[in-house]
This record gives sequence, structure tokens and C-alpha cells, in this order.
Amino acid sequence: MAPLEKRLEPYVLLLSLLFLTISYSVSRGGDDERTQPAYYQLEEAILESEMRRGINIGNALEAPREGEWGVYIRDEYFRIIREAGFDTVRIPIKWSAHADINPPYRIDEDFFKRVDWVVNKSLEQNLITIINIHHYEEIMQDPFNHRSRFITLWRQISEHYKDYPETLYFELLNEPYGELTDEKWNELVQEAVETIRETNPTRKIIIGPTGWNSVYNLKGLVIPEDENIIVTFHFYTPFEFTHQGAEWVSPSPAVGRKWLGTEAEEKTILDELNMAAQWAAQHGNIPLLMGEFGAYSKADMDSRVRWTRFVAREAEKRGIAWCYWEFCAGFGAYDPDKGEWRIDLLNALISEKHYITVETEYGNALGAGWYDEGSYALIRMNATSWGFFVFDHFEGLGPRDMVIDEGTVEIYVDESKVIKAVWIIDYVKPLAVALICVVACAAAILYKKLRS
Ligand code: BGC
Repeated sequence: MAPLEKRLEPYVLLLSLLFLTISYSVSRGGDDERTQPAYYQLEEAILESEMRRGINIGNALEAPREGEWGVYIRDEYFRIIREAGFDTVRIPIKWSAHADINPPYRIDEDFFKRVDWVVNKSLEQNLITIINIHHYEEIMQDPFNHRSRFITLWRQISEHYKDYPETLYFELLNEPYGELTDEKWNELVQEAVETIRETNPTRKIIIGPTGWNSVYNLKGLVIPEDENIIVTFHFYTPFEFTHQGAEWVSPSPAVGRKWLGTEAEEKTILDELNMAAQWAAQHGNIPLLMGEFGAYSKADMDSRVRWTRFVAREAEKRGIAWCYWEFCAGFGAYDPDKGEWRIDLLNALISEKHYITVETEYGNALGAGWYDEGSYALIRMNATSWGFFVFDHFEGLGPRDMVIDEGTVEIYVDESKVIKAVWIIDYVKPLAVALICVVACAAAILYKKLRS
């Protein structure tokens, strides 16, 4: 009979094999997680509440009564918006039509319930949800007599939503203008922020400049000292194009103006966006939101699509979050009668994603995956030498791609691309090995000779 150790040998071997297999598959599982396509990482980032791309549900709660302007907010709108790829919804609200005219300016309870329902549906879809005070025309004409009502509205709203998730944002007032001069508006902003902070110490508060939230009026805006402020502006340049045939503008700009994307047309837009970005940079890189932009349906669809794509991408390049004006009314990206998106407008907003692939013979490259059109894919070699080979350069780069350092490159995403890593032989290594061999052989021969 063989000794015990000998008999156990096959089992020990089997067990070791099993152990090796398990640990290999566990470590592979980890690898898979690390190399998930960037697209999924992006989706997670959105869930962690980064505001980038949003849409206004306009003409609903900012009408004197919801439904009067043709839009009644439906449950499924938020799922439709979320699934299309938006991360934010802005809900304009005419609180002033649902609160007493006299002190204590009580907001109607049923109206609060309706807003609660809307806000909850939106938050349930993981959408950052902005509520504001919209169309408070009286305060634009007579700020002095409406100051205390405005502040009291915010006291009630902020008390009511104080326990809501941090993904609910407050925007103080849509498009201040008229008698609400820079000076008066800045005072009101300060007071409103202090009021909100009594109950909501860290909630994001959005404020915008006078002149209907014009970029040109940013210079007059005083930002309260507070870490959770976002600054908004609205963008409808050129107004004669975006508002052609608009019934609520007098005189209404003539219909028929196109936006072709000529160099001059683009420059007008870039100048204004640069102005906003520079202002933000000079103010501690304060986050910017382009809270409204869009072109009315009386303009031709091709021009609207071109304009919308250009403005959205250029804002993104400058790190400006945006909310399109608006979901399903006169500027609508969604057709509520057909129950479908106006696909060209949607694509102009939520651009297509493209796949960036990296081919390499040695080592492996990180960063392959799905990326948004107009973004940059960061591709990095995880090792730049492999045996006798060293990484030399990437092949397939375009004029907008940027080499960051040896083995790292930023690829501009405008279509699906294959990037190839080119490796060359490192002649020093084989030569060194050959030299060592020669020396060793010579030494062996010499040794043999000396022995004989
Ligand atoms: C107004 C809307 C208008 C839009 C574009 C918004 O701020 O509230 O009534 O349609 O701007 O002019």
C-alpha cells in the first residue's frame, strides 16, 4: 500500500487546480467591471446628479391655470424625457396666480399638491428637477410693492420642500426685467437666498441676470456668498430667427428667416457664449446653466435643427449645462399628438453616441467605449513597453485629436473610430541579450579550454 501522502497527491492536485480556476474567474470578474464602456460610467455619473442636458416642460404650470396654454403634465412625460437621455427637467411655475394677493400671501394647498405630484414624478425618474417662480409680471412693474410677497412665496416654497432630495433645485425668478433694475434685483436675490437658507442650507439655488436673463447683463449681477449657487442665462440669439412669427412678441419678427450656420452666424453665437464663459471664469468658475434656448416652430425645421445642435454643442464645450425650451408646445421637441419625439430635434439635442475602438498588439489600451458626439475620449496605454517592443505612436488621429503624453491621447468624437497603437522593436534589448549570450559563450569556451 502506498504511503498516505502519495495517495492524497491526486486530490491535492485537483483541489489546487480548482482553487486556481476560481481565483482566476474572480479576478476576471473584477477586470470586467473596470473595463466597462465609458457610456455606462457616464450614465452613473448622471445618476449621481450632474446637471448637463435638460428640457423645460413649458406652457403648463406657468400658464394662469395648467392646461390653459394647451399643456397638462402627464405622468409618462418624465419617463419619456429620461429615456431619451436628458438628466434635468425645468418646471416653470406661476406661483403668483395661486397665492393670496394680501399678507400672509398663502399659497393654495391644492396647487402645492399638484406641484408635489409633478416634482415627485420627475424625481422618481432620477431627473434633476428645477422649480422656479415664472411669469410674476407684477414684480417687474412694481418691485417695491411686491418684494415682501415674493420673499414670502419663497419662504413657503422652501419650507414645503425642505426635506426633498438635493436633486430638487430652486430658481429664484424667470427673466427679471423692467423696473427690476440690477440694483433692486441684487438686493432681492440676497434677501431671497437668505430666506431659503433658513430651511434649506445647501440646496442648489439658481439665479440669473436682468434683461430677461441676458448674457449682456451678467456683469450687473452680484452673486451672494454661498457655495451652492448656479447662474443661469437664456439664449435666443438671433432673436429674429428664434422668435419669428411669435404671437406674444410685438412686433413679431417676420417668418422665413433661415439659420444656415455661416461663419458670421456662428460667430454671433460664439461671441455671446464666450462672454458667459469668461464671466463665469472671472467669478470663481461658478457653474452656468443655459436655462432656456430654442427656436419657435414657425422657423423651418432644418434651420431649427442646425441652430439647436450648434448652440447645444458649443455650450457643452464650454462646460455650460442647458435646458431646451421646451418639451411639447410651440418650440416642442416632442409631438404630444403623435406621442413621439421630433427625431431631428431630439438628435440635435441628445446627439448620437459613437464607439471608439483601440487596436494594439501588445499590452492593452484603456478607454475604448461609447462616447457622446462632440465629447473627447481619453485613450491610454496601460504599459508602454512589452518584451522587446516599445510603444511608438497612435495611428488614425485627426486634426482635433490631442496627444497628452507618451501613451495618452484625447480623441474628438464625431464618428465611430478605430485608433491603432503602433509598436516598434526596442533594438537595445535584443542587442544586450545577444551581447550577454556572446560573452557567456566566450566565457564557457575559455573555461573549457583552460580545464583541458
Ligand atoms: C417664456 C415663454 C416664452 C419663451 C420664449 C419663456 O421664458 O416664459 O412664454 O415662450 O420664454 O420666448
